[in-house]
Amino acid sequence: SVPQIKRLLSHSHHLKQTSLPWLEPQGSISQKKMQKLRLPSQSLFNKTIALLFSKRSTRTRLSAETGASLLGGRALFLGADDIQLGVNESARDSARVIGGMCQGIFARVGEHEEIEELAKYSPVPVLNALSSLWHPTQILADLLTLHENAHLFEAPTEGAQVVKKNDKKVVSLPELRPLTVAYVGDSANVLHDMLVTYPRLGHKLRIASPDQYRAPTAVWQRVEELGCDEGIWWGNDPKEAVSGADVVVTDTWISMGQEAEKEERLRAFAGYQVTEKLCQEGGANPNWKFLHCLPRKPHEVDDEVFYGPRSLVFPEADNRKWTIMAAFDLLFGKWDISAEGAVI
Ligand code: CP
Ligand code: NVA
Repeated sequence: SVPQIKRLLSHSHHLKQTSLPWLEPQGSISQKKMQKLRLPSQSLFNKTIALLFSKRSTRTRLSAETGASLLGGRALFLGADDIQLGVNESARDSARVIGGMCQGIFARVGEHEEIEELAKYSPVPVLNALSSLWHPTQILADLLTLHENAHLFEAPTEGAQVVKKNDKKVVSLPELRPLTVAYVGDSANVLHDMLVTYPRLGHKLRIASPDQYRAPTAVWQRVEELGCDEGIWWGNDPKEAVSGADVVVTDTWISMGQEAEKEERLRAFAGYQVTEKLCQEGGANPNWKFLHCLPRKPHEVDDEVFYGPRSLVFPEADNRKWTIMAAFDLLFGKWDISAEGAVI
């Protein structure tokens, strides 16, 4: 729900503030200040989270492993070549066995049905680390990044405020004004989660994707169920899509598993590269900012944008860690989402 998303973002921001000082190089913080620091919640103490990844990952895996250890627990990486799942053992049996020894499962799968199957038979919660249809933890990181950078969008609302949480003063997550977010590229898992999330938070979405790659029915059904369709403009002209955009987003044109379609896709996406020229000619907000989940190929966004001052891609990548930590704390740890002060 929207309040839960907002609390998760606020909690991610809080975990980041609490954890970062502990990660400073030794000696950079005075002894006196060190003594005042509070450890991040150790809500995964003695717990193990299984990372069931059948596809490659840099950010999601690193976030899970480093985040779980900051919460006092352990993440156990189980790649496709390591375990019996899918070769000698069914998802049903693997889920039961893994869930008998671990306290949570974070799974990156091929077809979305695979994670549904794991969730059906797992005795412990299962969190989606990416599937053919969705990439929910990515969108949490994107939203945290936008909130933290609310000042870049001429926010008419108040900035960060100091609030009290568990008797400690923390800086609250800044509010974000309603944005126009343009997505130029493939209709894949990252976009699908944007479709079911951004409109509910009051942001408008403008999408350009070639007609043949329009989101599948299962995604549209969810968009309609959640009443998100009103906030979405969809076409196939990248320039039209970026009109009035405060934020421009793209993803790879060739998702993991689609490598055989490379040539066909490169042809279909000709003209979709995010550039200064495209956004200027399309009439984006002159102050537009850029997001990309990574990994990135230069054909979908040029170096000028990707490495330039508009780009928020590396803070976005860093924020995978804090948002995944918050989700772990909620699903596998002891964080009480209704706790006082955890609102934005
Ligand atoms: N954005 C993202 O999910 O990156 P990885 O595939 O490296 O985890
Ligand atoms: N759409 C991409 C996202 C990678 C994080 C993929 O599925 O490969």
